[in-house]
Amino acid sequence: MADSKSGELMEKIVSLSKRRGFIFQSSEVYGGLNGFWDYGPLGAELKRNIKETWWRSMTQLRDDVVGLEATIIMHPRIWEASGHTSTFSDLMVDCLLTKKRFRADQVEPQSGIAYYYTGANDQTHGKESKDAFSVLVPRGKPPESARKTARQFYQQRGLENPELIGERSEPIENTIRYNPENGSLLTDPRPFNLMLKTYVGPVESADNISYLRPETAQAIFAQFKNVLEVSRQKVPFGIAQVGKAFRNEINPRNFTFRSREFEQMELEFFIRPDEAIEAIYRSVARPGAPGHPGEPQPNWGWQIWHQYWVEERLRYYENIGLPRSSLVEYWQKPEELAHYARATVDILYKFPFSKRDEKGELMGEELEGVAARSDFDLSQHQRFAGKPMTVFDEELKAAWAKLSPEKQTELGERYFQARARYLTKAGETAEASNKLAREDGQLLAKGYYVPHVIEPSAGVDRLALALICNAYCEDQAPDDKGKLETRVVMKFHPRIAPIKVAVFPLLKNKPELVNKAKEVRELLRPHMSVFYDEAGAIGRRYRRQDEAGTPFGVTVDFETLGEQGPDLKDTVTLRDRDAMKQERVRISDLVGILSQKVR
Ligand code: GAP
Repeated sequence: MADSKSGELMEKIVSLSKRRGFIFQSSEVYGGLNGFWDYGPLGAELKRNIKETWWRSMTQLRDDVVGLEATIIMHPRIWEASGHTSTFSDLMVDCLLTKKRFRADQVEPQSGIAYYYTGANDQTHGKESKDAFSVLVPRGKPPESARKTARQFYQQRGLENPELIGERSEPIENTIRYNPENGSLLTDPRPFNLMLKTYVGPVESADNISYLRPETAQAIFAQFKNVLEVSRQKVPFGIAQVGKAFRNEINPRNFTFRSREFEQMELEFFIRPDEAIEAIYRSVARPGAPGHPGEPQPNWGWQIWHQYWVEERLRYYENIGLPRSSLVEYWQKPEELAHYARATVDILYKFPFSKRDEKGELMGEELEGVAARSDFDLSQHQRFAGKPMTVFDEELKAAWAKLSPEKQTELGERYFQARARYLTKAGETAEASNKLAREDGQLLAKGYYVPHVIEPSAGVDRLALALICNAYCEDQAPDDKGKLETRVVMKFHPRIAPIKVAVFPLLKNKPELVNKAKEVRELLRPHMSVFYDEAGAIGRRYRRQDEAGTPFGVTVDFETLGEQGPDLKDTVTLRDRDAMKQERVRISDLVGILSQKVR
């Protein structure tokens, strides 16, 4: 449980987000829509900066990743192949009294006295209910409180004056069968598919059901062959996509952390299977030490590629201002892994609402998952679409021909085993798996395979929330009269700050100052986001920008106009938000100085 201090901090963050226009509740004028959020002027800029820094670092600054922008609604068979139709569900339970729905794994364990009833009857109206019901009440509470709840339950079943039947009670420890809010029994857990459904076309029939994508990843797999063909890339290479995803979460919570509509930034990085690496390079490079393994090498196996992407992603977060100490690298345990995953590292951020460990340290909540997904996804689309997802690898073909017969048999057998395991898990009969895996083994010898994939998958909204939480800071700063007051300052890294620089004329009623300040704004505008503000005392204007997280402030004063001599003419003060220090710089140097800091 988050403690009350963390709760208070979250309240301040939520309130500032609304007050300053980072995040609003969706459809607020109509009372809001649970799990949906809008981003105001500052939030919209922040999100753009997140997506741009991600895109730049994942695609534009690399030779081996290309982009994709696919539709949100895709062929429904995609979700059958990916497993989302059958398995993308959470267990849910409903309160038998209020019908409120909970995720089964989020019901807090409780202890108390459970009262059971076999039914009720209403003699005045000659009615009876044989529905069993139960209520949990804290120890020491009179049985009447359980009876009151039970009567409400039977009243909802049409009994006006229910007389309870068959009451019995027993103490119970750590049960999750009762609604913590009212003690009513919950239904048995049932799977609830999280995909949001719609109909494509004018007829609302079962044939026309489609889904809003629950992740952006599947479009990348479905378009793998097209992208490969047009991009002149060769495995290993990646395809990146940023876009909306939708999940009908049972309990949206923790502000934007678990939403029903959100954005993902996903990379599918395709690599050779280890057997192909071994055939070409005679051995497979595996992680030697923790940390970043350096520049990619052609003999890397899946484990080192996985480590590489975990470290690359950690570097990214540090680069946009999340300190390493605020992040946790969590290796999923074997029993936590998705059935197709060979390894998954969750990158967690220590949100104020995260649980604490026994030492009182925040444990963190997931920002991103980096999964080694083997060849599962492409293999599934190959089977469901009936189209080959294999690539031809000239180097492999040439290397295979030079292997000794023993080595060919050894590698072929290992590849066969891996393919057979996948096919059996995917539901093929033992006989079919055997046959298909043998064919795959023969294809490998000719240079063909289905690429494996490493998937770093991050959420834009979770990152925006992490950056907001990380930036929130209260300190002491002097007001206009020099008296110390509490200052709220959003210490965003300049790379992701919504506004990079604010430009102020010292006084608004001096046209020379105003004109010069507007000139400075126009000078900076092509290079970064600029905010011009002339309203109120200068100290107030600084405070407003501190709350918006603007890292730099430029003030045009009388020195700028040359009133203190020619040396200071065309200079301005440049204020640093965090240090609250000002230096004088030449207007002609501003673009150079600031561009370096915000890039
Ligand atoms: N393709 C893999 C995939 O979608 P995921 O762990 O379900 O994996 C990846 O989602 C990321 O998407 C998460 O780490 C998180 O940042 C974000 N995400 C997932 N569900 C979310 C939700 N309900 N609200 C906000 N962000 C979410």
